Amino acid sequence: MKKVLLGLMAVLAVAIGAFALYVASRQHLRFDVAPPAIAATTDSTAIARGRYLVRHLASCGGCHGDPTMREQAEAGEEIPLTGGFEFSIPPGKFYPRNITPDSATGIGAFTDGQIARALRDGVGNDGRALLPFMEMQGLSDEDLVAVISYLRSQPPVHHVVPDHQYNFLGTIVKATVLSKPVGPKETPPVRNPSGATIENGRYLVEAVANCWACHTERDYNTGQMVGAHLAGGKMPDDFNPKRIWFPPNLTSDPATGRLAQFTEDEFVARFHAGRLIPGSPMPWSEFRGLHEEDVRAIYRYLKSVPPVVHATGPAFVDKP
Ligand code: HEC
Ligand code: HEC
Repeated sequence: MKKVLLGLMAVLAVAIGAFALYVASRQHLRFDVAPPAIAATTDSTAIARGRYLVRHLASCGGCHGDPTMREQAEAGEEIPLTGGFEFSIPPGKFYPRNITPDSATGIGAFTDGQIARALRDGVGNDGRALLPFMEMQGLSDEDLVAVISYLRSQPPVHHVVPDHQYNFLGTIVKATVLSKPVGPKETPPVRNPSGATIENGRYLVEAVANCWACHTERDYNTGQMVGAHLAGGKMPDDFNPKRIWFPPNLTSDPATGRLAQFTEDEFVARFHAGRLIPGSPMPWSEFRGLHEEDVRAIYRYLKSVPPVVHATGPAFVDKP
């Protein structure tokens, strides 16, 4: 009995040692993905579309904005995108980067192709696989040009952002489920759709506005999606460790889907009303500025998403 136990322990020790070596060997993986052929322009129409994407549709500022200026951002001010906000989640502490054109601390030294590759292919400037925070891999060529052109047009701000801090769980996740970069599910369009159409709504919901990243249940230990697409999520509050948010089901289910409670006009009014529940992580202050035809497009697309029965309950719950 003792011998068997000792033997088992030895096998276990070897397995643990081998796994530790495997994890350690995969902390600095690099991926050789060719940068998309995207070049920024100084064209004012492209920059205006870029501002609309960065400041409203894709709400880059919600994560990359100066974290000391949350109130100004809430009031609709275009705050500097200096990075520095701290996401403290089970795998560690993570910091969105400085995306102003400063060459030492921001994106000034990145090529247009490197920025495009980060957004489209999930590969960082140094070739690492990026964490799954930016679910907008399907951005069109035209919109990538717009975003990068707008980023280049901002004033540079010198601001050093701390390096990510992976804890024990984080190093395992980094070596396993998050080891590979995630690119687009289908070839992104060259030009983006527009108008109050289902096609444009699908593009905005699936490729631009991060809707499904929050409205689908995710495992916050591993970053992986575990629930049915758009059928409702569950997410921590970045400011209140006791609070859990439940982004509602956005599929067309008439009983548990939130859209059943809105006519199209009410949905437009809801988006233009901004944040109603204080502290809600949904980027309502950015979405308040969405063009009416885009909100209509989003509504029409969501109404076409096959129903999934999933009740999410109240918007948030506070743990004792
Ligand atoms: C939900 C939060 C979130 C949103 C929204 C977001 N980002 Fe990020 N971004 C991050 C985080 C976190 C990182 C760091 C990722 C990493 O290092 O693995 C990052 C990294 C980056 C990088 C650096 C890539 C590199 O090479 O290191 C760029 C460029 C970037 N984001 C641009 C944008 C732009 C442009 C938008 C809007 C279109 C945007 N981000 C929206 C969280 C976000
Ligand atoms: C950062 C996470 C996040 C993103 C991104 C996000 N949501 Fe939400 N959403 C939430 C949370 C949390 C709630 C519940 C709290 C609230 O109502 O503000 C919510 C609530 C809603 C509601 C119910 C509002 C009400 O008053 O009944 C709708 C509709 C909605 N989201 C649609 C969308 C759409 C469409 C998008 C993309 C354009 C989107 N959300 C993007 C987190 C998010």
